[in-house]
Amino acid sequence: MKTLVTYFSQTGNTKKIAEAIYDEITGEKDIKEIKDVSNFEDYDLIFVGSPVMEFNIPKKVTNFISNNVAGKNIAFFMTHAVPEGFEAIKSWTGSIEDFAASGNYLGTFECQGELAQPVYDMLMKSDDPEMKGFAEMSLSGKGQPDEIHIQKAREFAKEIQAKVQ
Ligand SMILES: Cc1cc2nc3c(=O)[nH]c(=O)nc-3n(C[C@H](O)[C@H](O)[C@H](O)COP(=O)(O)O)c2cc1C
Repeated sequence: MKTLVTYFSQTGNTKKIAEAIYDEITGEKDIKEIKDVSNFEDYDLIFVGSPVMEFNIPKKVTNFISNNVAGKNIAFFMTHAVPEGFEAIKSWTGSIEDFAASGNYLGTFECQGELAQPVYDMLMKSDDPEMKGFAEMSLSGKGQPDEIHIQKAREFAKEIQAKVQ
């Protein structure tokens, strides 16, 4: 069995989760940024990771999944600035399930990731109280993902791999 861990990460949070998953996976495996992957042909199991950006999973990630997922075992991981349990997370996870629908969707891991300072500053300067609210919510994500979340990501990797063995 061969596994691919692939991800998009702008500031390194999702990459940390990708590396934890990759470390935990047994057997033949590769870890690559999405931009360096042309298709899923060589792999039996694929983990795809992304940050949430502008209340969505970035198009380059969802297009990539839609174009390559048919018939494949796929799991997803994402990081976001809002605290875990925040209502909108369900819709982000739901959209991933939709994009993975033509494959064998195995599950999603999600956790908070520290918001980049320039984005925080921009939100705080906004006249929109909702945007300020997001900035304030993101403060609980300082230093995330931490060791506890890295460990949870490892457990997720193990559980997903067990589903396809
Ligand atoms: C341009 C931009 C837009 C973002 N939009 C959202 C968002 O809509 N919701 C959210 O929870 N986090 C948002 N974030 C925060 C990131 O999802 C979070 O910090 C994530 O951990 C970054 O992952 P990365 O380091 O792998 O790029 C945004 C970050 C950036 C830079």
